[in-house]
Amino acid sequence: MEYINNELCLGPLKKSLSVLTTDYMRPTYVYDLDFIAQRYKAMSGALKNTRLFYAVKANPNAQVLQKLKSLGAGADVVSLGEIKRALESGFQPQDIVYSGVGKTKHEITEALKLGILQINVESLPELERIGAIAKSLNKKAAVAFRLNPDVSIQTHPYIATGLKDNKFGMELSSLPKLMACLDKFSDSLELVGVSLHLGSQMLEFSGYEEALKKLKAVFIDLQKKAPGLRKFDFGGGLGIFYDRTDLELEESLLQDYAKITLNVLGDLDCDLQSEPGRWLVGHCGVLIAQVQYIKTTSEKTFVVLDSGMNHLIRPSLYEAQHRIMTLKKQNESHTVDIVGPICESSDVFLKSVSLGQVREDDFVAILDGGAYGYSMASVYNLHELPNEICI
Ligand code: LLP
Repeated sequence: MEYINNELCLGPLKKSLSVLTTDYMRPTYVYDLDFIAQRYKAMSGALKNTRLFYAVKANPNAQVLQKLKSLGAGADVVSLGEIKRALESGFQPQDIVYSGVGKTKHEITEALKLGILQINVESLPELERIGAIAKSLNKKAAVAFRLNPDVSIQTHPYIATGLKDNKFGMELSSLPKLMACLDKFSDSLELVGVSLHLGSQMLEFSGYEEALKKLKAVFIDLQKKAPGLRKFDFGGGLGIFYDRTDLELEESLLQDYAKITLNVLGDLDCDLQSEPGRWLVGHCGVLIAQVQYIKTTSEKTFVVLDSGMNHLIRPSLYEAQHRIMTLKKQNESHTVDIVGPICESSDVFLKSVSLGQVREDDFVAILDGGAYGYSMASVYNLHELPNEICI
């Protein structure tokens, strides 16, 4: 993000944001589709021979999905709602991988009727359920075991998923029971893959490498027992910087991540799949909000916006810090707390930060809101959901 002629601009093509405020009605997420394309190409170039299934949960905006589909992505979904959105946006059932710990009978039935490419299974009862439903439909379900390698990574505990006490994935010790279940449903289940996802916002890869090595050995062993096993899905999770804009450093982290992945998995006799979300879209969106009040107390100055944790919950949920900039460059700045309108003390974007001098009705951009922004927005306090614009 940088100012050109005093106007804040988004993305490598430096698109000015203030033009979008002419008809401003309510807080608005703006996504730069060219920027998303650039990120997708960088990632698919680095992860050679890997099919990327975009994690729809990061940003399910239909135009974003259409863009990624047009670039060759598949979709990684976690609900029937996301399946429907992906189909409406042009993905075919065979482009879709279905993950998630709580798939209902109805969701599994619909996924099987549609002919979804692969279901990533998270528990033995889920495998039993898929087997029984597929049998009743006279179908053979293509399943992948999501395995939990019990490895930790450095990230916020709320978004770590690869440890034994997380609800995600299946313990390696449960494999005999899973294989027995496959035998029981040999007409209706086929094991086609193994998947893992250790967590999100990974910026260091030692735990990831350890997990890959662990599951590689398991994969080789399972291939002897399951002739249809041909996919290794190494999940998503590559992180981005929220405290600075350094796309070059991020690309070099991407190269490290790809190198580690391909060094460990490259010689397997299988197809590689990945499920990236944040890295593809995180930087490519901002949330534009309007200053309502400058409130000064004896302690400090609050800048009160018309958008808060209802539209971007990451700061209150994970103590994430999204930088905030004024849309028009200001020569002077002041130290303020930037807060939302919601009736919760945790509805704070940033505390004691330097912000360009703003007045009532000025606009600001909350950066890096392209991932887990709108998709986690709520109508708490019955404020409207934010608007979305693609440029
Ligand atoms: N695959 C699976 C099975 C996942 O659970 C996730 C994310 C992904 C792929 C994509 O991960 P990514 O590449 O985006 O890191 N709301 C949190 C992030 C939650 C991630 C949940 N799962 C946040 O705002 O930081």
